[in-house]
Order: sequence, then C-alpha cells, then structure tokens
Amino acid sequence: MKHRFFTPILLVMILLASGCKDSKTAVTSPDGEIRFEISMCNGAPVYSVSKAGEQVLDNSAMGFTLKGEDSPMAFVKAELVSRDSKDETWEQVWGEDRFVRNNYNEMTVRLSEEGGNPRHVDVVVRVFDDGFGFRYSFPEQENLKEFAIMEENTSFNFGKDMKAWWLHRSVPYYEDYGNNTLMSQVDTAHTPFTIEAGENRYYAIHEANLTDYAKMNLTPDGEGKLRAVLTPWSDGTKVYASAPCVTPWRTLIMADSIGELAASKIMLNLNEPCVLEDVSWIRPGKYIGIWWTLHKDFYTWYYGPRHGATTEHTMRYIDFAAENGISAVLVEGWNKGWDGNWMKNSTGFSFTEAYPDYDFDKIMKYAASKGVQMVIHNEYAADTEHYLSQIHDAYKLYSSYGMHYIKTGNVNVLMDGKEQHDGQYAVNRRRQIVETAAQYQICVDEHEPAMPTGIHRTYPNLMTYEGIRGQEHDAWEPEGGNKPEHMTVCPFIRGLSGPMDYTFGTFDFSNPNYPFCRVNTTLAKQLAQYVVIYSSLQMASDDPYAYQGQKAFDFIKDVPCDWHESHVLDAVIGDYVITARRDRNSEDWYLGAITDENARTLTVRLSFLEPGAEYTAQVYRDGEDANYENNPESVTYSEQSVTSEDTLEMKLATSGGCAVRFVKK
Ligand code: NOJ
Ligand code: CA
Repeated sequence: MKHRFFTPILLVMILLASGCKDSKTAVTSPDGEIRFEISMCNGAPVYSVSKAGEQVLDNSAMGFTLKGEDSPMAFVKAELVSRDSKDETWEQVWGEDRFVRNNYNEMTVRLSEEGGNPRHVDVVVRVFDDGFGFRYSFPEQENLKEFAIMEENTSFNFGKDMKAWWLHRSVPYYEDYGNNTLMSQVDTAHTPFTIEAGENRYYAIHEANLTDYAKMNLTPDGEGKLRAVLTPWSDGTKVYASAPCVTPWRTLIMADSIGELAASKIMLNLNEPCVLEDVSWIRPGKYIGIWWTLHKDFYTWYYGPRHGATTEHTMRYIDFAAENGISAVLVEGWNKGWDGNWMKNSTGFSFTEAYPDYDFDKIMKYAASKGVQMVIHNEYAADTEHYLSQIHDAYKLYSSYGMHYIKTGNVNVLMDGKEQHDGQYAVNRRRQIVETAAQYQICVDEHEPAMPTGIHRTYPNLMTYEGIRGQEHDAWEPEGGNKPEHMTVCPFIRGLSGPMDYTFGTFDFSNPNYPFCRVNTTLAKQLAQYVVIYSSLQMASDDPYAYQGQKAFDFIKDVPCDWHESHVLDAVIGDYVITARRDRNSEDWYLGAITDENARTLTVRLSFLEPGAEYTAQVYRDGEDANYENNPESVTYSEQSVTSEDTLEMKLATSGGCAVRFVKK
C-alpha cells in the first residue's frame, strides 16, 4: 500500500528533477503488462518501457545525426499520429512452429524539428505480450530528400548492470563463443544480445528486417546502458538513404522464462510476409556431403591427387543418400578456382565449369534419377562482383537439372575487398543474390552471412545460415575444437535470429591429420543437437562410411527439419538445454537434451505429449562408460512405452546428450 501511494509522487519528482514532461504518448501490450512510452526529456525525444509496473528501460535515446551536421537532429516535439492493433495467425512455409500469432498494439509518434527548415521522423512502435519493436520511418518531406546517416542514436538504458551473453563484434562471421560478462564489460557486441535479468527474467535485444540499411551492433554507454553502433561504409557513413524510407525494427524480447525467450516470434512478425507465390519447391531436408573429410584434410578442394569432388566419390554419396532417405548431397571443390590462394584470387572461380574429374552433367542426371537433390557449393569469397557476373548462367544451369539448393560462401572479411560484410553495401548485395535465386527456384544455405533478422519469412528460399562457430572448427582449430558448453549457449544468442547450419553428425571421432583438435561431445549429444539446434536444412556431416551399420544413424534418418511446434522445456544457458518438438508431418514428437562439460542427470515431464495417447519412446543415450574425452562413441538404444503422465530420467555423460523419438501408437 505504502509503495503504491508514493509511486505517483516520486514519479512527478523525478520528472521535475530531470526536466521531463509526463507525456501520455504510450502504448501497452495486448495483455496490458508492457508499457512503452515516448516523451521529450531535456529537449530530446526518449522512450521508456515498463513491465507489470516495473521499469525495464529508463529514458533511452532515439534519433539520428546526419552527414554534414555537428549535432543530432533537433527534435522538439513528440506527437501521437496514429494507433493500430492486430491479432492474426499466419502459417510459416517452414519453421520451428507452423502457425505464428501476430498480436500487438501499435502507435506512431512523430518527432519534429522547429525553425528554418524543419524535418520530421516517425517512430512506429509495436508492443507484443513478450516485448516490443520500434522503427523509424522517414516520410516524404520538403526538407529531407537524399540524406546520409552518420549515427543512429538509439540506446537501451536498463539503468543497472546485468549479466549478458553476447558475441564479439571483432570475431569474423559471428564465429565466436557466447561471452558471459556484465554488460559493462562488453566491448562492441552483435545482436541478438541476451541479458539474464534475474530469476525468470530474460531480455534479448535484436533487430528485424534489415533491409537497405547497416547492421546494428551494441556498445556500453554508461551504467546499464547500451547504444547502437551501425556498421559503417568504408567512407565512415553508416547509411545512405532517401525519403520515404524506413529503418529495421529495434526489438527487445522481455521473457519470463527461458522457454518464452526461445519461443518469441517478434522478429518474424516484424518482417514482411512471403513474397513468393509458388513455394512448392522449397523443402526442408537433410544433406550429407563431401565436406567434413575436406576439413579433416583427407581430401582437397583443389584438383590434384587427393581431390575430393570426383565423379566416383560423389556417386557414392548420392547412392548413400538415396538408400537412406537423405534428401540432398553437398559437394565442395567441384568447380574450377580452388587452386592456390582462392581468397585472394576469387575471380578464378567458375560457377559453371567443373574440374576434369567431376562429370557435372553425369552427376546431376544421376542424382535426379535417384530423387536426390544436389546442394551446389558456390564459394565466392565475398567477391559479389565476380559472382553476380555469372549468377544467371549458374542458376539457369543448376535449375535445368531440377536442382533447388546452393550453399554460398563469403570467406573474406571485406566484401568486394572494400566494404564490411554486414554494412549497407553487403546487406544489399546479399539480398540481390537471394532474390535472384528465388527467380530460378533456388534455395540458399548462406555461409558467412550477415546476422539473420527474419528475411527468411519474406524469402523462405533463404533456408538457413551459418553465422555461428560451427562444426568446421572441430576439424582444425589449434585450440582444440569447440568447447562443450558452446551448444548450450547457441540457441539463446545466435539461435534467436533464425536457423543455424551448424553441421553436426559426427560418428567417427578420430582426427589423425589434426590430432590436436576434436569434436568435444559424445555421439548421443550429436544426435540430440538435431532437436536442440534448429535448421530447416540439417547436415549429417560425417563420411557415410561412419554411419554404416550404426543403429544410432536411425535417429538422423528419422528426425525431421520442419516442425509443427517447438518448446525449450528447460535450460540454463551455458549448462544444459532440453528441447521438444513435434513433427510438422506426423504426430511424432522428438526430444533433445544436451549438457556442457559436466555430466548430469536431467528429469523431464512428458506433459507435452498428447494426453491419453500412448507412445513408444525410442531413446538414444550416452553409454554408462561414455565421456566426451575418451569414449564419445558409447551410445545405447532402448524402447519404452510412455504417456504424457510419465517422466523421463536422462543420465548425460560429460558433454553428453539424450535423443528421443516418441512414436504415437
Ligand atoms: C567456410 C564454410 O563455412 C565452410 O562450410 C566451407 O567448407 C568453407 N568456407 C569453404 O568454402
Ligand atoms: Ca557451463
């Protein structure tokens, strides 16, 4: 009572002290819990956010500094323009959840300058039950036509230092471990940027619909405060624009549980609906490939005595895929240009001509005859000029055989030798490639991508992305391969931005050419990752020889890549994760549980199963003697009958896992 009585008085005192007017320009979430307010404070527009009456973001900056101006745009007014709301459910072409509810309240607030040549910018805010997104819109106007943004002044002022999980801006292609530090100890971080705000409270800052703009990064700016830093052009400008135009959405998930954090659809809801009319050729699936053995240096990408992509070798993979219901085969090193230093000589790449020992026509026809898709590798070393000069010929050629998949590569920190890989230039080049691919009915697995922001809703042929410290690091990394805890972190940072082409599937843990490096998991954890780590295309990365005669391979064959619904049932970021998903095309459920370097026993209630139904649980567990360092291959299989009333106890080895398929009886 006392607390409630004093709150309004305190508020007025704070407002008076800080010179801020109490504005009524606010919008609340459909359930009324989250309140987003825009006001003028000390002569500048700010936003603040509360949840259930508790402040989450204190006055946080908004606005821009434009080229040729010393100070930010001088907005003196923030006025409500319009309100709107929506409650709709839409269907994904593919995804973690088939149906997505898009339920928000919206307000648009106009920020206006005064004086000689005043300009205005609108802020469009959408508040959902699990967070919000806002974006700036530059309407057509007399005093703002062509312009350049030198700084976007958006900040996120939490007012207190909290523990965060984040990726270093300085590590190329987002191939970093999740760092766990106080916000104040961050240098410059990527988003998604995840904050553990206390018991049952998680926040994640990200952006949605990065189109014709620069990626947003975050840097600390005072106690508990982060500010946006856009990736610049080589000339220092952040964004070239011309009104009317809009920025990406700045989003904050505000979740009461780890499951709610992972389930948020704010990013997808803030992207445009699918623009492709016919999506029948876009199919999630699994692929094997001439890839892992290249990284382990058994074979080479380039032509020579150890060349991997030979006709014979590829046909063995196609046969294996056809026999085991694996939908596609990736081949790297099939095309001319891998000789010498290809990162420097990227113009040597041909995307239509194969090496002499790779019979392109024969392989394409053979795969087609077996109903197997080829994932055609297009490493263009971030040289989009060169790639775009061949793109139509290449895509026309691939699609003439009825092939629908490519894997792109952008290895080179600078795109076209000049621009950062997630600045406005790169964002636009990447979009051009995805749009061109769609014209030829080609799906893209993009490696070295720009951080996903949900464009795959609009272009679902953009099926998956790397942008993660993936399994290739387990082949050759001098420091020994990815740390056991890595995969328990990925779903809650990078994973919040969309599918991850991590490429697990190791059954043979030996690595004779690089004995200092290894896959730091058990085999059962490899299986469980197919459920824990989401991707619409999933690789079974080992050489088919490694899967021969292995019961555990059945799980990889069975596990879908497209889901009716998904739930993180329990997790502690960096320690363990338990995820359950229901197949989109059957009534079967799948469960994956993984742990970090610590062995642990996890118990899970099976209440996600349909009440009253009986299921056969096909359980793949770590063997009693399994541990990731000395005995990763030890895995056991058992079956038991279960219902939604039961609980399942899972004993996980060090960096171990448990994978379960629940077949409805
Ligand atoms: C890096 C990619 O992530 C990897 O999958 C690929 O094999 C190499 N580049 C070569 O393109
Ligand atoms: Ca840990």
